Amino acid sequence: MGVAYYIQTSRVASGIDAGGKDQIALGRMVYEKNCAACHGARLEGQPNWQRRLPSGRMPAPPHEDTGHTWHHPDRVLFGIVKYGVVPPYGPPGYQSDMPAFQLVLSDDEIRAVLAYIKSHWSDKVVQWRVETLKNLEQP
Ligand code: HEC
Repeated sequence: MGVAYYIQTSRVASGIDAGGKDQIALGRMVYEKNCAACHGARLEGQPNWQRRLPSGRMPAPPHEDTGHTWHHPDRVLFGIVKYGVVPPYGPPGYQSDMPAFQLVLSDDEIRAVLAYIKSHWSDKVVQWRVETLKNLEQP
């Protein structure tokens, strides 16, 4: 099994780039309704997103190239949107303002919103992902 097996299954399971234009159009609607309030209409994140809030929690980061969403493999992004920043996506007991969307969005809607986010990434980022994430067995 090993890495090749893992990549194959995760690609099938993720399906994030599968649908092309229709998927991205759906993802845009999902994004505007459910994500833009925190992550910004242009995916720019909250102001000073690298600085902790008075509550001790982190602000919402950008989803375009200036953020770090693109550092994560597809299945991690999917997991964060579905379940929130809980283990294994964050440390146990981690307090986060990122909601879990499992009761709000279907798996297809989650894939679509991630496809929409991905459609904003530059060629450089996409190339980095191809080269770097293919060797990742763990997030
Ligand atoms: C109530 C505000 C809020 C909403 C609404 C929200 N997020 Fe978030 N999101 C956050 C915050 C805050 C973080 C940073 C989490 C942390 O580090 O604690 C985050 C983090 C993330 C991350 C991880 C980014 C990274 O680089 O680690 C992803 C992916 C994400 N959000 C996607 C989404 C998507 C997709 C939606 C809409 C379906 C959404 N978020 C809606 C607040 C929000």
